[in-house]
Amino acid sequence: MNILIVGGGGREHAIAASLKKSAKVEKLYCAPGNGGISALAECFPVKATDIDGIVELARKLNPDYVFVAPDDPLVAGMVDKLNDAGFKTFGPRANAAIIEGSKSFSKGLMKKYGIPTAAYEVFTDEEKAVAYLREQNSYPAVIKADGLALGKGVIIAKDFEEARDAVHSMLVDGKFGKSGAEIVIEEFMTGPEVSVLAFTDGKAVKPMISSMDHKRAYDNDEGLNTGGMGTIAPNPCYTDEIAAECMEKIFKPTIKAMADEGRPFKGCLYFGLMITPQGAKVVEYNCRFGDPETQVVLPLLETDLADIIESVWNENLAELDIKWSGESCACVVMASGGYPEKYETGKEIGGLDETGQCAGAYVYHAGTKLENGKFLTAGGRVLGVTATAENLQAALDKAYKAVSEISFDKAHYRRDIGKRALEQK
Ligand code: AMP
Ligand code: GLY
Repeated sequence: MNILIVGGGGREHAIAASLKKSAKVEKLYCAPGNGGISALAECFPVKATDIDGIVELARKLNPDYVFVAPDDPLVAGMVDKLNDAGFKTFGPRANAAIIEGSKSFSKGLMKKYGIPTAAYEVFTDEEKAVAYLREQNSYPAVIKADGLALGKGVIIAKDFEEARDAVHSMLVDGKFGKSGAEIVIEEFMTGPEVSVLAFTDGKAVKPMISSMDHKRAYDNDEGLNTGGMGTIAPNPCYTDEIAAECMEKIFKPTIKAMADEGRPFKGCLYFGLMITPQGAKVVEYNCRFGDPETQVVLPLLETDLADIIESVWNENLAELDIKWSGESCACVVMASGGYPEKYETGKEIGGLDETGQCAGAYVYHAGTKLENGKFLTAGGRVLGVTATAENLQAALDKAYKAVSEISFDKAHYRRDIGKRALEQK
């Protein structure tokens, strides 16, 4: 099997590394890829959002499957265009990717099918939104842009003034452009968060090992929200009992709801969950693998990922037994100083071998490029240093040891990845 992966971050590096282990996979291609991915796959300089460019590349390479990993091309209909051109794919079509592309759609779906989530209302009019805030008079209040906003479209307002400003910035000032022309105001939920990625062929749903993201930039969950500064798997908050509840009340009903709406979801559906005092509720759906969740989930997968891709495409996932290792995995993200705000790039990375790896861990490259045999930083999140071991503490120790051997100017990483999970045990 030859596979073209669309994307170029740590998630795509983890997908490439998992497929590389498959006896079935002959050639891996990636567009655009990055410095680390180029050790595993032939990379082509086509942007992940360039639908026509990717279709053209697929025509040239003629892969057996195209794996579309990031949210924006999925929401924009890249899978539809690839299917129209005769290619088999992994990832949802646009009419199913809308589950991430529009929060008013996903909230409406949950309301219609009784899937537990925070109470909410949708607004396009500032006056009506502000009247609703006054009437609810409950803080913190959660204000979300309807569409994709690079993970920045959620504002947790601590009082009326902040909430009113958030509404104004989205609906009137156009802070998130078209993505914020419609907003969702929802109830604030409390409890530990769990990420559960699930394979689905539109009928069956097979949850993967649970994980925990660390979204804030600094230790003790301080600083701005980021794409994710580290992850661990499995998540100790996600007990067997909660998993069984999620399966019956959230996972199966979501897959069935999408099918009943004529929007069968094929690919990986990401459930962002909060374990509230009233039970598990959906915070958000993503139409794809999470980043950096993938980096800790796929190393624990024992079944061949290529077999899963085939059974999702052929819609016989129910018959496939998916196996997971009983180990733990931890990923520490090394970012450019200043991320998620302004940062510099082009810094030489020390401590990596010629394939971009470091002994004792697996280094997933997020924002790097290879120039004249040297790895240089090329993004906000630079590396996801990942280790697997018999328990979480051992995995963290291995990952942090490798982190201490890697260096670049102004490198920043959190020292407390997995701390909360260890306290939970
Ligand atoms: P999202 O981009 O939707 O994942 O939201 C980003 C983060 O905001 C989530 O990971 C939660 O920590 C927080 N969040 C979103 N919605 C709520 C809510 N209704 N109640 C409490 N926290 C929330
Ligand atoms: N790590 C969260 C996400 O991929 O959206």
